[in-house]
Amino acid sequence: QQIMRGDFKTFMQKEIFEQPDSVVNTMRGRVLPDGRVVLGGIKEYLNDVRRCRRLIFVACGTSYNSAIACRQIMEEMTELPVVLELASDFLDRETPIFRDDVCFFISQSGETADTLNALRYCKPRGALLIGVTNTVGSSICRESHCGIHINAGPEIGVASTKAYTSQIIAIIMFALNMSDDRISLRERRAHIISELGKLPSYIETVLKLDEQVLSIAKEIYKEKSLLVMGRGYNFATCLEGALKIKELSYMHCEGILSGELKHGPLAMVDENLSIVMVICNDHVYKKSLNALMQVRARNGRPIVIADDSVPLSDLEDCEYVLRVPRTVDCIQNVLTVIPLQLLSYHIAELNGFNVDRPRNLAKSVTVE
Ligand code: AGP
Repeated sequence: QQIMRGDFKTFMQKEIFEQPDSVVNTMRGRVLPDGRVVLGGIKEYLNDVRRCRRLIFVACGTSYNSAIACRQIMEEMTELPVVLELASDFLDRETPIFRDDVCFFISQSGETADTLNALRYCKPRGALLIGVTNTVGSSICRESHCGIHINAGPEIGVASTKAYTSQIIAIIMFALNMSDDRISLRERRAHIISELGKLPSYIETVLKLDEQVLSIAKEIYKEKSLLVMGRGYNFATCLEGALKIKELSYMHCEGILSGELKHGPLAMVDENLSIVMVICNDHVYKKSLNALMQVRARNGRPIVIADDSVPLSDLEDCEYVLRVPRTVDCIQNVLTVIPLQLLSYHIAELNGFNVDRPRNLAKSVTVE
């Protein structure tokens, strides 16, 4: 085991620090220098996908959060309705599925019972089934019509980290693939593809925040509760960051869409509640600043994760600011989630908890 972990103390830590490489492995041979994206596993089905009624993404936990992260870019690139489903709820509702639906089943392990059962539910209804997995030969791989391997390499830590960022890249590559004949999107696609190429070095830069994140963890690791707020492309980061903190540190943590702040959560905010706010210079920037003002006006002391193009003057009086490189909106959330992966890791370590094997959880949930 120690050999497999290398210089790292835990598998989770190794997997977090592997992300500059795992995202490259996800893209290898698929994002071509001439601006084309080729996904061998679904190539022959692409025309059927383009004619579909809607795209449905079914998953659990972190894999579901990756679908949230990609919803907006998928809508933009395909102009199709994009439906997201938690596998358990999808099954509970006996959701109507039609033969012209395309259903994606996202699962790191490819063995999650709810996701697999959702696939088996869709199959007789005639939908096209696409697996997005990290495990070649898994049940979801075998039982789907076609698929995209995320190629992140084995993930041993129960908390999913590198699989999440690779799932996002894989789904974005699919969105780019779907839009490669759209002339109006030519520039936008070229920008995204060029930023995908820079992602490994951006991730290296984010990982250098580790010491700073540790010092923040030392301030908050005994707290009872933590909120993680953001919106737009970064809402997924809030949900995923909160999930990491819950599962590793057993601390109550909620991911909150800051657009919902005034509809309830604002009542909790005071000088004692720990809050992380994700603020990026994107199309919801002004609204994100407004949420920051609301929190500051109630004496909240947020820890801010911001991209490096956000002016310091807008973050005045914020005690802790974690800066990540600025990239194109739809992959910014790959960079904003990593400080939260590190934060959850350090909070758990400081509390003396088993990071690779949190209590009550299994790596793969093979029962409903
Ligand atoms: C993530 O940290 C969790 N351990 C969990 O939510 C996980 O993502 C979920 O159980 C789904 O697993 P899968 O991707 O293997 O289907």
